[in-house]
Amino acid sequence: PLDTADFFATVAEKSDGTGLRGDYRKIDAQYVVEQEWDAYTPQQHALWRRLYQRQAKLIPGRACDVFIDSLERLQIGEGIPHFAQTSALLLNATGWQLVAVPGLVPDQVFFEHLANRRFPVTVWLREPEEFDYIVEPDVFHDFFGHVPLLFNPVFADHLQEYGKGGLKALKVDGLAMLARLYWYTIEFGLIQSPGGLRVYGAGILSSGGEIEHSLTSPAARRIPFNLERVMRTLYKIDSYQETYFVINDFEQLFEETALDFIPLYQKLSALPPLPANALQEGESVIAS
Ligand code: PHE
Ligand code: FE
Repeated sequence: PLDTADFFATVAEKSDGTGLRGDYRKIDAQYVVEQEWDAYTPQQHALWRRLYQRQAKLIPGRACDVFIDSLERLQIGEGIPHFAQTSALLLNATGWQLVAVPGLVPDQVFFEHLANRRFPVTVWLREPEEFDYIVEPDVFHDFFGHVPLLFNPVFADHLQEYGKGGLKALKVDGLAMLARLYWYTIEFGLIQSPGGLRVYGAGILSSGGEIEHSLTSPAARRIPFNLERVMRTLYKIDSYQETYFVINDFEQLFEETALDFIPLYQKLSALPPLPANALQEGESVIAS
């Protein structure tokens, strides 16, 4: 997450408004732009197809059910999708829509979109050299990783609540803790299913290597979701995660985050954060 001051400093780095990756010259007040689908090149659609095909092979038996069902429904394997077409499906299914953005947006703007059931999707696609790894999220991560989950009504409601919670957290200095929750659920969450552990986190689902790592690597630990534990746990942004938190179902995620976080921010900010790579006393791991 970027606070608004950092954000403007970064964008302003270049006078043409392209300091962050992405073109911010045509944004509206909510940082929304046209997708300009016609401007994608055949090479870009081909790169999307390669990214899609790699992930699609890894998905069966590893991604959660709603992800698999939504991919089926979305038919986005042939090239970079039209956001407007997906928005129409989504609006009908859960009342969400997609908005096109140039890249990262300020926290306040991001939360306002979510609180209004709009999911911001970056318009640019990574370069071929970045096939395996990118730093800033691109259209493949944002769309492939996040959008399929929005077809689940409980998850969809949860993400809206998260957006409202973000607007609240901005006023009380709770952002670091709320960001950890986002990281370990929306981006890197695992979920139980009758067939075993599955992935629902977008950061894992859009990664070539982390899908398998997250579910089976002995170098990572998987522990039951616990709100306070998650809100105190630091995370790595430049390597696979070392700790994953597992929910039983999306209802659990919704219910356990429904309480008022303000007293929790106060309580937890007095405690030291926990390392990204260690079990706490009394914790046991979930067998993978
Ligand atoms: N319940 C949280 C609050 O009061 C908001 C929230 C909901 C945060 C869902 C994250 C996820 O601030
Ligand atoms: Fe993401």
